[in-house]
Amino acid sequence: MFARFETPEELFAYRLGSALTMENDSLQMLADLEKAALSEDVREMFRHHASQTRDQIDNLHEIFRVLGLTMTEARSPTTKKLVKEGNALLRKADEKLRDDIAVAAALRAEHHEISAYQSLVASARRLHPAQVVHLLSANLEQEQHTSEELAAKAKELARTM
Ligand SMILES: [Fe+2]
Repeated sequence: MFARFETPEELFAYRLGSALTMENDSLQMLADLEKAALSEDVREMFRHHASQTRDQIDNLHEIFRVLGLTMTEARSPTTKKLVKEGNALLRKADEKLRDDIAVAAALRAEHHEISAYQSLVASARRLHPAQVVHLLSANLEQEQHTSEELAAKAKELARTM
């Protein structure tokens, strides 16, 4: 994509590509976690988050379109590691611990996503039209809401374990 970033716009485009990879990894992770989770309400939560993730991916596609950028995924090694880490822990743990591990893994990924969108929103405010800021803010708000849901579920699981 870029051999070297020379402008804030190039850096933004790369980060946008990373966010696309991040969301695609997130979809994969949510499918894995849904399979691993024991209770139906946790599985339902992951299904709901997966459908929101698909909307977020649509928003990213729209931003590429608005900015006239070629849609390219950029590297997102952190999300790959988070998927790996969650799966490794699930393989090692007793079945009754699965909901706890799955929720914690999703929560960790959410915090990563929040930080990615916070940076993107901040740059977009300076560089790009309001429509782009709006689409990124929509994703950010959804991630923040999801992270609150997951944190509440983690607390609930900790109480009942
Ligand atoms: Fe997301």
